[in-house]
Amino acid sequence: MGMIRAEKLVFEYDKRDEEGNVIGSHRAIDGVDIDVPQGGSFVAILGHNGSGKSTLAKHMNAILVPTGGTMWVDGRDTKDPNELWNIRQSAGMVFQNPDNQIIGTVVEEEVGFGPENLGVPTDEIWKRVENSLRAVGMLERRKDSPNKLSGGQKQRVAIAGVIAMEPKCIVLDEPTAMLDPNGRKEVIEAVEQLRKEKNVTVILITHYMEEVIDADQVFVMDEGMW
Ligand SMILES: Nc1ncnc2c1ncn2[C@@H]1O[C@H](COP(=O)(O)OP(=O)(O)O)[C@@H](O)[C@H]1O
Ligand SMILES: [Mg+2]
Repeated sequence: MGMIRAEKLVFEYDKRDEEGNVIGSHRAIDGVDIDVPQGGSFVAILGHNGSGKSTLAKHMNAILVPTGGTMWVDGRDTKDPNELWNIRQSAGMVFQNPDNQIIGTVVEEEVGFGPENLGVPTDEIWKRVENSLRAVGMLERRKDSPNKLSGGQKQRVAIAGVIAMEPKCIVLDEPTAMLDPNGRKEVIEAVEQLRKEKNVTVILITHYMEEVIDADQVFVMDEGMW
């Protein structure tokens, strides 16, 4: 059973006029197959703007469901609404803009939200918060306010928040796009560390070639396909 598997995946957005009436569709994913094994493999997805990368990423934790073909996450069909919870727990997402995904006022609180929502017992939450922050090199900032942090540090906190939910897989959609070279390096090193230490499958969407040299598989997306 693969970690992430898609077969002939198709996704079409509705095209609407000014009044919001559907006037057609736009095919953003056009027949994608992918098979990412379980364990700490590292898959990179490249492609120019508008090629469908984010649309594909959103299928990997059932934010979007296919309009054609099938997507399985950890063997679960994303079209099955009963599997939503399990899927979201198996595959965590990190987005481009850290400011849109950080809501807590203290770093450690931020990282604890995910496991808290999963119903993890309090003492276990604190253990996970500490381990996750240590894994991304942010433990010493645990009492700080996230808005005092640099972009790279915020992204590492966002990653710690995902890791605290103990997903098998982490999908990062251009996590370094808004960062300076130093921030990019911090984030990539943190991701690399997680993959090696926690055996998490990493799906990294990026524009930066230098971030994909260690990848086990590289896909280049173009107009919804590869
Ligand atoms: N919410 C949306 N509604 C309609 N079209 C969209 C929406 N989001 C993305 N698209 C279109 O789908 C295509 C793929 O977009 P996206 O997946 O964001 O690409 P990428 O992440 O590679 O830049 C683009 O043509 C984009 O304009
Ligand atoms: Mg995108």
